[in-house]
Amino acid sequence: MAKISSVLNTGFFSSALTSVSYNSPVKLPQTDPEERVINLDEVSWHDNPNDCWIIIYDRVYNITDFLDEHPGGGDILLEYAGRDASVAFRGSGHSQQALRALDRFLVGELPMHERIFRKPGGYHLSDIPE
Ligand code: HEM
Repeated sequence: MAKISSVLNTGFFSSALTSVSYNSPVKLPQTDPEERVINLDEVSWHDNPNDCWIIIYDRVYNITDFLDEHPGGGDILLEYAGRDASVAFRGSGHSQQALRALDRFLVGELPMHERIFRKPGGYHLSDIPE
């Protein structure tokens, strides 16, 4: 036993043992939602009332907690669960307030090659009829 502890208390083992703390919180990588790239395939998996993502103007939003709050109702949002809702969003004449309300649900944005609007030569919002 003395032999084992003398080995553990030296060199690599002692520094490894003293640096491990099981009480410290696990640090997950923090990624700014604006910087998180999410492709169409991943969005399409979030297509139900318990896990609902939509895309508006190339940005991805997790609106699961918003379904019951939406003034236009949750059902209409679920029609776009897992897909692009830009034209529907624009077409239902949302206010600037509604546009700002999107911010709190942002989880990421599409890769450049899957975007429609926010890319060089992409559509402008004014191209979509209100
Ligand atoms: C996460 C995305 C959305 C947010 C944050 C949002 C937010 C809002 C807000 C705040 C209003 C109240 C009126 C206003 O301020 O414009 C509203 C109304 C409405 N929204 Fe949305 N909306 C979203 C997506 C959609 C989508 C995809 C549709 C699909 C067509 C839709 C359809 C409507 C309709 C029809 C109304 C009018 C309800 C009424 O006046 O009775 N919304 N929305």
